[in-house]
Amino acid sequence: MPQKVLVVREVFSETLDYLAQHFEVDSNQSDTPLTPTQLADRLVDKNGALTTLSERIDAALLAKCPKLKAVCNIAVGYNNIDLKACSERGVMATNTPGVLDASTADFTWALILATARRVTESEAWLRAGQWSGWKLKQFLGTDVHHATLGILGMGRIGQAVARRARGFDMTVLYHNTRRLSAEVEKSCHAAYVSMDELLERADILTLHMPYSPATHHIIGAVELARMKSTAILINAARGGVVDDAMLIEALKRGTLAAAGLDVFENEPTLNAEFLKLKNVVLTPHIASSTEATRRKMAMTAAENLVAALTAGKPPNLLNPPL
Ligand code: DGY
Repeated sequence: MPQKVLVVREVFSETLDYLAQHFEVDSNQSDTPLTPTQLADRLVDKNGALTTLSERIDAALLAKCPKLKAVCNIAVGYNNIDLKACSERGVMATNTPGVLDASTADFTWALILATARRVTESEAWLRAGQWSGWKLKQFLGTDVHHATLGILGMGRIGQAVARRARGFDMTVLYHNTRRLSAEVEKSCHAAYVSMDELLERADILTLHMPYSPATHHIIGAVELARMKSTAILINAARGGVVDDAMLIEALKRGTLAAAGLDVFENEPTLNAEFLKLKNVVLTPHIASSTEATRRKMAMTAAENLVAALTAGKPPNLLNPPL
């Protein structure tokens, strides 16, 4: 009897074809998000699942899915998965590191440039038919070139963002839980500073850390108050690392100049105040969304699932047995 797997959200046909070579596949190609009860019902007889960041995989769910042996996220982030609960139930959990670094770094730069140069704000104004001619003071923005870029979280994606800053002749500062080797710092042309110095010196601060209890609201009222009033905040990491309510206050009061945000607390429900602000660029969690990268993410997750259920050793295992 082939093992059974559930593909919880829509994936590419090649991902399904690959999984079908190994398993009996149930898939939610209609892409309607499943409620926790629907998810448990669909997983009750399954040995494995291909999940996304929208599904909460916790002890309550796992208790209802006695056959489940592997949960393979189509994402590098895995804050939707309770790893401890998975380990307690002998469920392997995996993610998709590496394949999305470059696309996410590219998109971070799209947010930096769009925010600093007011691209979306001016485009909306033009589309609304408001442009009557060139003016010297029209949509004055902030220079990116020669500015100081601060990177909080210097893993693979943070490093890729840093390397791209060279073309803009920027000073690059970073803070990370662990300082990088001198060799990596050199290749990124980045200098390690304390968190306070990073907040105080950055003209553009970009965040690249996973979400966890330790990083919850790592940028809150106190941190925002340390930043320059002319600074720009960029978040393409995870909602929850920024205190959205405090960010909105800073943007309204003008104690922070602007923000470019791809992720939000409680997404897809946004704090409605964001929509009223002109000094924010808002995108719907698409930093990794290129055709090639999303295909690679889905296939990497599928390869993890096949390796987990056929050999017990997925390449990107997040919870190795102790
Ligand atoms: C990730 O991989 O964690 C991304 O946020 C998904 O787009």
